[in-house]
Amino acid sequence: MIIDGKEIAAALRKDLKKKVVELKSIYNAVPGLTVILVGDDAPSKIYVKNKEKFAKEIGLNSEVIRYPADLEEKVLLNKINELNKDNKVSGILVQLPLPKHIDKRKVIETIDYGKDVDGFHPINVGNLSSGYESSIPCTPLGCSLLLKKVEKNLNGKHAVVIGRSNLNGKPMTQLLLKENCTVTITHSKTKDLKIECLRADIIIAAVGIPKLVKGDWVKNGAIVIDVGINKTDSGLVGDVDFDEVSKVAKAITPVPGGVGPMTIACLLSNTVECFKKAYSK
Ligand code: GUN
Repeated sequence: MIIDGKEIAAALRKDLKKKVVELKSIYNAVPGLTVILVGDDAPSKIYVKNKEKFAKEIGLNSEVIRYPADLEEKVLLNKINELNKDNKVSGILVQLPLPKHIDKRKVIETIDYGKDVDGFHPINVGNLSSGYESSIPCTPLGCSLLLKKVEKNLNGKHAVVIGRSNLNGKPMTQLLLKENCTVTITHSKTKDLKIECLRADIIIAAVGIPKLVKGDWVKNGAIVIDVGINKTDSGLVGDVDFDEVSKVAKAITPVPGGVGPMTIACLLSNTVECFKKAYSK
């Protein structure tokens, strides 16, 4: 089975669009998403354009603020503080990576955690790891929704996460624990990754190495979620060798068209959730 992230994301956006109409009729206001892009990193420009397009499509108040790469850090922090106070803004996302002279940690911590649609603020990270309500990072949230489409009950499944980043690997681990999986976190220093993967019922590959996971690394009937988006001479490829692994896996996400569309749909969903929490206070 090939997991169609495009179709699942489109269905989620359709539901969100309806929800936005309902919220407007209740509160006479719509959720607002402000995305800040600093500099001209080519992939970031594409991601931000797509975020803006889909936010508008579902009826959000969508704004993109673009700054040059030599932006002074304090200008960015002042803008975030201004957005924190603006009632029309439900969610704030500062696109990463940031230029080196800007302190990413300071930026993330300046965003009001109630508007942190990325789920990167330490309060949200802490709440997620304690099992409390929190904003959940969009990519792992998207992966877990895809997993649940294949298998409703993940109790006792052995999941292997490849990659330990704050954006993907670590929050993914928390979400899998919440679903009662047994989780192995692997990374670049893991001794024998193939052996670890062969024990997995679920593999989440989020490490940024093209076609790392081969057919003979995967147990028959495993579910494989590929978070990688790697530019190669032969086009965009994931962290999983799709041609090989699709022959042994029970279900697998393609690249493109798997996790990518879910990330944006989950960002929209997080924005709607932040709006609802702010208005129900
Ligand atoms: N850059 C790549 N992925 C992400 C993401 O999920 N959030 C932000 N803010 N920046 C990113």
